[in-house]
Amino acid sequence: MECEVQSGELLATETELAVLLYAEDETLPAEVTALCEPNDANGRWKQQTLLYPRGALPARRLLLIGMGKRSGITADTVRQAAAIAAQRAQELKVSSYHLGYNGHLPLTPQQFGVAFAEGSILGSYRYTRYKSDREETSEITAILQAGSDAPEAVEGVRRGQILARATTFARDLANGPGNEVTPAFLGQTAVEMGARLGLQVTVLDRAQLIEQGFGGILAVGQGSANEPRFIVMEYGTGGQGPTICLVGKGITFDTGGISIKPAEKMDDMKMDMSGAAAVFGAMQAVAELQLPLHVVGIVCAAENMPSGTAYRPGDIIRTLSGKTVEVLNTDAEGRIVLADGLFYAQRYQPAAIVDLATLTGAIMVALGSHAIGLMGNNQELANRLIAAGEATAERVWQLPLWDEYRDAMKSDIADLKNTGGRYGGAITAAGFLAAFVGDYPWAHLDIAGTAWVEKPSRAYQARGATGVGVRLLVELLQGYVG
Ligand code: BES
Ligand code: MN
Ligand code: ZN
Repeated sequence: MECEVQSGELLATETELAVLLYAEDETLPAEVTALCEPNDANGRWKQQTLLYPRGALPARRLLLIGMGKRSGITADTVRQAAAIAAQRAQELKVSSYHLGYNGHLPLTPQQFGVAFAEGSILGSYRYTRYKSDREETSEITAILQAGSDAPEAVEGVRRGQILARATTFARDLANGPGNEVTPAFLGQTAVEMGARLGLQVTVLDRAQLIEQGFGGILAVGQGSANEPRFIVMEYGTGGQGPTICLVGKGITFDTGGISIKPAEKMDDMKMDMSGAAAVFGAMQAVAELQLPLHVVGIVCAAENMPSGTAYRPGDIIRTLSGKTVEVLNTDAEGRIVLADGLFYAQRYQPAAIVDLATLTGAIMVALGSHAIGLMGNNQELANRLIAAGEATAERVWQLPLWDEYRDAMKSDIADLKNTGGRYGGAITAAGFLAAFVGDYPWAHLDIAGTAWVEKPSRAYQARGATGVGVRLLVELLQGYVG
């Protein structure tokens, strides 16, 4: 999907398909109402009416999409409507279409442009890499008909395309199967990204991890023939604005290890590197947007397998920080790899550390699939993330991280243990992570419930990976600019 902007009136445009978004409490122009029975197009949210003007308008087809009450229109409703339009355009097999808004825009032209591009690109996304019979998906061009607002809309569409492509990049990685997307593959992806975008990339392999003492990542990865990697992608320099570290859980497949998971749905655990995918996507967007910041993307990549060389319950390991961890459950592996990544982040003396991880089933119990779990040690950073979540509709919900939750992770025989009690599992997991960030402002985002959808609740999602976190992170980073 390509996105463009044109000036001029939608209803005066010659096109295979014109898409008109309209609010239920605004009147449609007479030339549109003349094409259908008065009550058929009532403007209710997501109501669609496809009309064939047959010469009454220059457009061959006219699709009306209801937006509900004007006061309820947000960037996210526009994003969803744009996704619906993109899907209808695919069904109708047009090569291009024009989309416009009826009456006065309820958002700034730039915001509208961002939401239009995001919705169009994300709404037409499908993971087809392994489909032999995939239809030759001829590229469709989505054109925003922006009237006199075109100059501002152009900038919005440019940004929206960058954000959406970064999100589809993350989706492709998380949808990729475990036999393709291995730790080495993620390392290679980082190297390629570095060359393409001018990032400084370091990939540590197993020998280097041993040499440098990454005991957490090594322990989790030791059961797999696909050896672990530690990946650092650096954009900008310390002289260029504040330093922000993004740390992603990159478990390329999580069998649970010796504490093995049930067979049912285990295939979904190829998405256990969705935190890493979000970091990759965010790094791409940050570089393309050329934000005046110093951003360090850190990925802890390993495969969690049961085998004769796997780590076991009862093992005590020494992490990069020097802190020791008693492994009570090999399926609580994400926190162990993140321990090394979070500790490593401290060397940049960052203004903020944000980690993203499909960390716990418990966050799904607590919040379901409509909110990212947020925990941390700094309310100012938490507030920034909450605001970024509202702005992007990648909503986050904060849970408390009181001392008692950290205490639950103390071991009798080592510094920490890797599981807490039965309850509050998402928070005790964060309590474990907190031991590795020192006093740096830090926020943990548990995306286990939001990184994957069986049944999309929004038209701009598709079954599988959502790419959640990319737009959220870039919005957060944008807030540190200037
Ligand atoms: N990757 C899983 C968490 C997960 C579950 C992500 C479902 C996405 C969907 C994580 O490594 C895990 O297994 N967590 C355990 C921790 C427990 C053993 C303390 C869990 O949540 O059951
Ligand atoms: Mn696990
Ligand atoms: Zn996991």
